[in-house]
Amino acid sequence: MTSYKELGLVNSREMFDKAMKGKYAIPAYNFNNMEQMQAIIQACVETKSPVILQVSKGARDYANINLLRNMARGAGEYAKELGCAIPIVLHLDHGDSFETCKECIDNGFSSVMIDGSHLPYEENVALTRKVVEYAHAHDVTVEGELGVLAGIEDAVSHEVSHYTKPEEVVDFVSRTGVDSLAISIGTSHGANKFKPENCTRDAQGHLVPPPLRFDILEEIEKQLPNFPIVLHGSSSVPQKYVEMIGQYGGKLKDSIGIPEDQLRKAASSAVCKINIDSDGRLAMTAIIRKVLSEKPGEFDPRKYLGPAREELKKMYMYKNQNVLGSAGHA
Ligand code: G3H
Ligand code: 13P
Ligand code: ZN
Repeated sequence: MTSYKELGLVNSREMFDKAMKGKYAIPAYNFNNMEQMQAIIQACVETKSPVILQVSKGARDYANINLLRNMARGAGEYAKELGCAIPIVLHLDHGDSFETCKECIDNGFSSVMIDGSHLPYEENVALTRKVVEYAHAHDVTVEGELGVLAGIEDAVSHEVSHYTKPEEVVDFVSRTGVDSLAISIGTSHGANKFKPENCTRDAQGHLVPPPLRFDILEEIEKQLPNFPIVLHGSSSVPQKYVEMIGQYGGKLKDSIGIPEDQLRKAASSAVCKINIDSDGRLAMTAIIRKVLSEKPGEFDPRKYLGPAREELKKMYMYKNQNVLGSAGHA
């Protein structure tokens, strides 16, 4: 058993408290390897932002839980070395069972998500409650979910979304004891969040997706005043990366994300945590394709992963400063 406290990490309680009062959102960036982790820490140190390092089940299978845990320990030491001891949470993204959550808690995670959103309501309550009891006994915070996002998370793909029902949130939170609640208001996972035929066009001809359901968010805030809300599926899918990927031999179809002004609006509400994974994948892929295409003789991974890391860092800094508003709040 390794407590996250031994690793120099924190749980999300105080972070969310401050984010709620300060009207900004904590970035929850997914990572699977060293370069992604370095970029996240460098960006958050330079912008003096708290951060949630997020690990999916897929990431655990890919990278190994022991290595990830020790990378998170290293992240804290690295941040100090870079000049700012930012608060760092190590979070399990989309935990699928009590056993997965327990294993992460026993291995130094300071926060876990139990995603029972696809289960019948009462089963979601029972599973989430069980995780909360174990987690709170170890001072680990828990995120639950109500409502279903469309898109792909790990191997599970949902064709259609079901918005969160505001009339369920008080019952769910009080019976489970969760510390934060992920909701469904129109975001979705992956790089294809909207179909072009469901979008309109702005004056420049860019596709504009339908707005998020802020009316549902407001109703949830009325039901649960000052309770931390989480938005998954919040990549913006920057078109410059989509275009770069296309320019250098890739093929992405109908890649449309959440407009930044929608995320800014969400961050200034009760939304305290915003999950971003796909944008990091797009930025890395775009730069790696560009470098390998422009320098076909290059075979040193540092020569393409290094520039990809630099681009990622710039992108995360931009998000902290201009979208989530977390810069300066470490
Ligand atoms: O919500 C899903 C995340 O983007 C994680 O994706 O399971 O492919 O690592 P992954
Ligand atoms: P994106 O696919 O929009 O980056 O969402 C990531 C996410 O919700 C991770 O849990
Ligand atoms: Zn998610």
